[in-house]
Amino acid sequence: MTKAIFLTLSRGGDELLDVGFRTATDADTDAVVALSEPFVADGSLISRTRETYAADIAEFFVLDIEGEIVACAGAGRGGALAEIYNFAVHEKWHGHGLGHVLLGSVIAALHQEQVEQVVLFSGTTVRWFERHGFERVEESELPAERVARIDRERGSVPLRRSTLRGFDAPDVLARIAGLKVRFERSGVELGWDGTFDSLLQFADHHGIETDSRCWAGACGTCRTFLKKGTVNYHTEPGADLEGQEMLLCQAQPVTDLVLDL
Ligand code: FES
Repeated sequence: MTKAIFLTLSRGGDELLDVGFRTATDADTDAVVALSEPFVADGSLISRTRETYAADIAEFFVLDIEGEIVACAGAGRGGALAEIYNFAVHEKWHGHGLGHVLLGSVIAALHQEQVEQVVLFSGTTVRWFERHGFERVEESELPAERVARIDRERGSVPLRRSTLRGFDAPDVLARIAGLKVRFERSGVELGWDGTFDSLLQFADHHGIETDSRCWAGACGTCRTFLKKGTVNYHTEPGADLEGQEMLLCQAQPVTDLVLDL
């Protein structure tokens, strides 16, 4: 099982949820089918039978929130090239940055497997993928076997991204998205430019008053209430956290944030 991220998600300041990224198992097949169905119905995903999903389930990655699968993507591997397909985030979780997290995590996982390039075919979301480092590619640059399987009627565009270009972590994808961090009690809103290792460094640099000691996720001194948004931890925090608390010294934003600071 791959566990690439530790993520804390806040929906409007009233609850915190843990999000996990992992490879799918046979037991996930029905959930992946159910998650994909609405997108097949609106034409954004290709229709596949349950048997096809079941046969290919080992190619899938999923994000789950407290046991519920909320996003998935398949990745067909062939040497140094992989094709991402069936990329879906449950509609009720749109707007929380899970698409950034899923894509960044999938690319990072494929890079660990020595995949050098990823391709995908997109119809309605070409610009979203272009914002995440994908570029349009000529069919002549794709493997002939893949070109032969292109469904001309869908009008999808082939896109390609090198997994080595830049650091494929969710915080870098967040920087691309141009995120805002609001320090509510200080009355300051700042743009996250991705040059800081943590929100603690970021706050400190901009003169926001914080409490801190270890800067390593152990002492808990930098505990702060996350009122809105999603943060990513590079490593799982060692200090105990309750309710809406998060650790500034270990966290980076994945979406726009509102902090009680
Ligand atoms: S400063 Fe010690 S946990 Fe953040």
